[in-house]
Amino acid sequence: MSAGASIQFDAAAVAAQFPILQREIDGRRIVYLDSGATAQKPDAVLEALDASYRLHNANIHRGVYTLAQEATERFEGARERIARFVGGGPAQTIFTKNVTEAINLVAYSWGRANVGAGDTIVLTPMEHHANIVPWQQLARAVGARLEYVTMSDDGRLDLDSLDALLALEPKLVAVAHVSNVLGTLNPVAEIVRRAHAAGAVVLVDGAQAVPHLPLDLAALDADFYGFTGHKVYGPTGVGVLHGRRELLEAMEPFLTGGDMIGQVDFHSSTWKELPWKFEAGTSPYLEATGLGAAVEWLDGLGLEAVHAHEAEITRYALERLAEVPGLTIYGPPAEERGAIVSFALDGVHPHDVAEILGREQICVRAGHHCAQPLMRRLGVPATTRASFAAHTTTADVDALVAGLETVRRVFQL
Ligand SMILES: Cc1ncc(COP(=O)(O)O)c(C=O)c1O
Repeated sequence: MSAGASIQFDAAAVAAQFPILQREIDGRRIVYLDSGATAQKPDAVLEALDASYRLHNANIHRGVYTLAQEATERFEGARERIARFVGGGPAQTIFTKNVTEAINLVAYSWGRANVGAGDTIVLTPMEHHANIVPWQQLARAVGARLEYVTMSDDGRLDLDSLDALLALEPKLVAVAHVSNVLGTLNPVAEIVRRAHAAGAVVLVDGAQAVPHLPLDLAALDADFYGFTGHKVYGPTGVGVLHGRRELLEAMEPFLTGGDMIGQVDFHSSTWKELPWKFEAGTSPYLEATGLGAAVEWLDGLGLEAVHAHEAEITRYALERLAEVPGLTIYGPPAEERGAIVSFALDGVHPHDVAEILGREQICVRAGHHCAQPLMRRLGVPATTRASFAAHTTTADVDALVAGLETVRRVFQL
């Protein structure tokens, strides 16, 4: 029996719901293995967005007429839907532009008030720049310092080194739920438990987790959890920050202006309650309905089933890629991985690998993946990355492996 035959989940039927995956370019089907960068959009999301733009558009929270009420209800309904999807509360579910903005919001509004000179912020070597640079800026502004948990060569965090850093009584621990390069599925519940015992606040960057894993934010108990809509099969321009109520209530707004105010006087203003205090200006209210439709669509597939399917695909990919001579695979074994595999082919630059695969419409990413410190830690300038989704089939993985054979032939390896 092939590895493909053991897969119950009908990924081909899922793929049929994505118009872009029905395209051919130069007579070839598209093998989309770059969902880690952005997910493609299923019909359900495109239809919801289309309806929002065609039928339900008026600015939210202000108008008294029916269209405006509809738009407001759809926006707030999407918030409730998304909060339910991640196991959080709607008042603590703040719409941002993306996860980068969500992390910046915390770094400015919580960080400037709670982190001071000589304080420690703990990060990991596998963070995306979005979860490094805002903390560097905060540390520079207030005179705090950054410390990094150590990591094994196969990309697993060393929790003993976390404990050693927690002994410094850091103010914050910021960690990716799933690494966007190594695929490492970090033990975030355990990290939250240990960090809280040491009195630290925890921010989890869930960008690479939310589309792939069942999530229960109430049980996870992280103080802040951010993710980005376009990786969850939703539109660009909308992300989410979920936060602990007491912390959010105590925080100053990040951006200020219209829609987030209670009263504005000539010299001072008051703010709305949560979540609107953090949503200045016109929100991406139509995009939010698209994200609401996306999580509803994912719920329809069932996150347990999606996760099991992607774990099977990742295992299959690791097995098949191991057959390619000269290929180094980065990251932990399948059991500790999300739906991401980064690799390098001996003697070929990762960009050349991606380019030759791209000629066959096999879409992978090459570069530092916005994780330059991690590249330094791994001692490589870049990697090539394949990332999987609910629509990925074993045939997609087979196409990648065949494409790598083409690369080896081109380079006469
Ligand atoms: C782990 C992780 N964090 C943060 C981001 C940033 O996402 P966005 O650019 O949508 O803010 C990404 C996107 O690649 C990511 O993979």
